[in-house]
Amino acid sequence: MGKNVVIIGTHWGDEGKGKMVDLLTEKADAVVRFQGGHNAGHTLVVAGKKTVLHLIPSGILHEQVTCIIGNGVVVSLSDLFKEIDELEATGVNIRDRLLVSQGCPLILPHHIALDKAREKKVRNNQKIGTTGRGIGPAYEDKVARRGLRIADLFDEQKFKTHLEEIMDYHNFVLEKFFNTKKIDFNETLAASLGYADQVKPMVTDVVSELTRLRKSEANILFEGAQGSLLDIDHGTYPYVTSSNTTAGAIASGCGVGPMYLDYILGITKAYTTRVGSGPFPTELFDSTASHLSKKGDEFGATTGRPRRCGWFDVHTLKRVISINSISGLCITKLDVLDELDTVSLCVNYEDKDADCPTPIYEELPGWQESTSGAKSLKELPKNARAYLERIESACEVNIDFISTGPERLDTIVLNNPYD
Ligand code: GDP
Ligand code: IMO
Ligand code: MG
Repeated sequence: MGKNVVIIGTHWGDEGKGKMVDLLTEKADAVVRFQGGHNAGHTLVVAGKKTVLHLIPSGILHEQVTCIIGNGVVVSLSDLFKEIDELEATGVNIRDRLLVSQGCPLILPHHIALDKAREKKVRNNQKIGTTGRGIGPAYEDKVARRGLRIADLFDEQKFKTHLEEIMDYHNFVLEKFFNTKKIDFNETLAASLGYADQVKPMVTDVVSELTRLRKSEANILFEGAQGSLLDIDHGTYPYVTSSNTTAGAIASGCGVGPMYLDYILGITKAYTTRVGSGPFPTELFDSTASHLSKKGDEFGATTGRPRRCGWFDVHTLKRVISINSISGLCITKLDVLDELDTVSLCVNYEDKDADCPTPIYEELPGWQESTSGAKSLKELPKNARAYLERIESACEVNIDFISTGPERLDTIVLNNPYD
């Protein structure tokens, strides 16, 4: 029997999903993105070589695998082909094993302009701190039922008429409301249609392809982007992204029904980070924060912005486990905590209804020994194991993987769902 395994970020993104997708792809036949867009930045390190992926699924470095972009992903074709070209230049073969759904909404230049103009206009404390990739406005057009999709590229006349209508509307907003420059229609039309021939061979009915793969007993890996607390419904609204980032999005984002999922792996950093604005109850502002930021190299893989750092939040994780029906956890970046005297876990909040509640911590002793690159549980110091066991007992979910370095093989595998 093939298995359908899901990778989901449990907090505000950048938990190390890319590394774990790359690792699990060893046993997968297909890797599927089902939401988000090139706001994602997923880092893989294989034999010292770093690759950062934004739209292309993180299984691409394994030659046997088919990579699939489902209808729930918003696609900027210029960024997709930039990423393809860059990867091809490093010798990775892509075009004959990347499939893209005809239903993907297009991110167009006016979406990017609107995203940036909105962030510029609002008062500082209302800024979301978006990645500026046009994600929000593209999803807005989708739910407003006026967006253009990849399939529309193949009827030039219809595309032109529809684009003109929609750009009239958005350019009006850009000029009159945001007092900013409008986007040129003819340039947008030519650039968009210019990608039609390139993308056509990859365009596939992803629902049929995934059904075929499932029936042929293939192992399929679903790659979540962002994190559960950035989910448009369950996250820290309005400081969220514009898609559902939780496991429920798989059914709508690529057409694989919920009963077909076999295992959901929650990727959780051994501490917490957040990039962009919004509440972060366990955020630290002291020397521990700067230590985590420096040792963890906490700078956004997409925008290079510094990530805010804080303690592990078990209390929120328990809710996230429920929302996603998480089967097992992967704790990443354990090595970043190695030098600390003590480590803290947020086990509850004092004032649950506050915008940014006050955490109640449990303090545990640190281990002050290197865990970097550990590949088995017995290599871990006693206190590091106690920290992980406390997370397990508080969450009532097993830790199935522990990541101890950025390299693919710097991983302790306790239970691989594909075995
Ligand atoms: P993603 O968005 O969830 O895929 O995560 P990112 O790639 O944005 O950020 C995770 C960062 O942590 C990347 O730079 C990874 O190379 C790095 N990383 C992943 N796992 C580990 C680990 O166990 N230890 C250390 N030190 N770095 C890690
Ligand atoms: P990966 O997949 C971390 C954050 C932005 C901002 C908010 C909305 O690498 O984990 P958007 O551009 O989506 O409208 O921005 O969401 N954000 C991420 N933070 N990792 C990501 O992706 C993110 N994608 C979006 O910083 O706060
Ligand atoms: Mg990232």
